[in-house]
Amino acid sequence: MTRRGFLRLGAVSAVAVVGGTTTARLFSPGAPVAPTDPAVAAAEAARHHSGRLVRRELRAAPTNVDLGGKVVRTWAYDGSVPGPPIRVSVGDELRVRLSNALPEPTTVHWHGLALRNDMDGVPGLTMPAVEPGQHVDYSFVVPHAGTYWLHPHVGVQLDTGLQAALIVEDPQERADYDDEAVLILDDWTDGLADAPAEILARLGRQGMDMSGMGGMEDMEMGAAGVSPEQPLGSDTGDVTYPAHLINGRLPRAPVTVEARPGRRLRLRLVNAAADTAYRFAVGGHRLTVTHADGFPVRPVEVETLLLGMGERYDVVITAGDGAFPIVAVPEGKQAPSALAVLRTASGRSPAADARPAELDGRLLTYADLRPSDVVALPPREPDRELELRLEMADSGRRWLVNGAVYGEHDPLGVEAGERVRVTMVNRSMMFHPMHVHGHTFAAPPHGVRKDTLNVLPMQTVSVDLHADNPGQWLVHCHNIYHGELGMMTVLSYVA
Ligand code: C2O
Ligand code: CU
Repeated sequence: MTRRGFLRLGAVSAVAVVGGTTTARLFSPGAPVAPTDPAVAAAEAARHHSGRLVRRELRAAPTNVDLGGKVVRTWAYDGSVPGPPIRVSVGDELRVRLSNALPEPTTVHWHGLALRNDMDGVPGLTMPAVEPGQHVDYSFVVPHAGTYWLHPHVGVQLDTGLQAALIVEDPQERADYDDEAVLILDDWTDGLADAPAEILARLGRQGMDMSGMGGMEDMEMGAAGVSPEQPLGSDTGDVTYPAHLINGRLPRAPVTVEARPGRRLRLRLVNAAADTAYRFAVGGHRLTVTHADGFPVRPVEVETLLLGMGERYDVVITAGDGAFPIVAVPEGKQAPSALAVLRTASGRSPAADARPAELDGRLLTYADLRPSDVVALPPREPDRELELRLEMADSGRRWLVNGAVYGEHDPLGVEAGERVRVTMVNRSMMFHPMHVHGHTFAAPPHGVRKDTLNVLPMQTVSVDLHADNPGQWLVHCHNIYHGELGMMTVLSYVA
């Protein structure tokens, strides 16, 4: 797959050569802008640099972790799930040495960051994977404040314990909160049931379990199974997980967020799951949504929200007096919810299976989200329109973009400086959290800035992006199994 990705790039430049001169080959019109292209370094040099250098080390290794009374063998960063969070300020140069103590190659992808292309961590496209026993130094200027995260971009390694938060602070931000906590939501199988690689192999062999499929009945509802009760449709995942975790803990031994009553608490929510969307709520509290995928929005108050895989939201709550359940319910799946506890006073902890009423309250929709003025993408007619047709094939053994699996795809060419409209046409009965690397697009209806967007069953949705980050960028479904079964393509800058 990796090799074919490169071959595809080669094919594009060959086409360019037909109309250009051989001497100018790499720079002739239509040739892909490689990660090593001077344009990538030039874009990096143009980024605001705070002058501060933050160094970190990250060791990916097999390890035993305690999920809360249950010890499992998995892979993790620095021996913990999630790995230690990385905190930087916008404009800092982050230099991370990744040491690979895993038995297979790995990379780190910095999800959501519009960073320099050669540090994006996609093997075969932006960099080679790091072989076992080797290390690599990632080094880049951090472009935007917000809640991000990091994970490997090799196979289904994301579905092990390899995950960590990347928090980018903005020293200029007029912060309307007192304290903060990061909550990473995750579906867990490794060491409890099948290993992720076994699940991928099975899906590739047998396709998906069709019993949960909406089918004709839903089609007749006109909205492909989407309803107020099932906002993502009736078939939300392909994998049954034995457990769902917040910050690496089972509900019977949850993480506690401690606060003082009346304090304003910012919760940074990350859905690090491979195949599960979560419905999130805090018992006894309303959520003021302040950021979507790291970028500020006009604050909106809701009681619950859904996070697709790869999505992030920041919410602010005013802590009540007592102990409250923080829950993430696997959307459309029969499984125990993930739990954490908000505690501001002594008293009984919430039950492991607490189901706060807020879960049935006012649910955030994309229509509620408006970008804050500073991050709104100014309106402009697109210079280029691209289409991404999303389809299932072979009963879910393969997932396609524009009729092809990754490796057999045709890259989507763009030129630096263009306004690009990407129209995603979902021709399947499942939602797909579609993620664009290296960019934050404007999503309808009000232009909220996001890097990951849930495209609903049979839905067509267009997002706009400003092509200001040259290189080769993966675009894919963040259901990691869909991605690995083919649902990925490349946004390819050409020059
Ligand atoms: Cu979370 Cu390709 O990314
Ligand atoms: Cu998908």
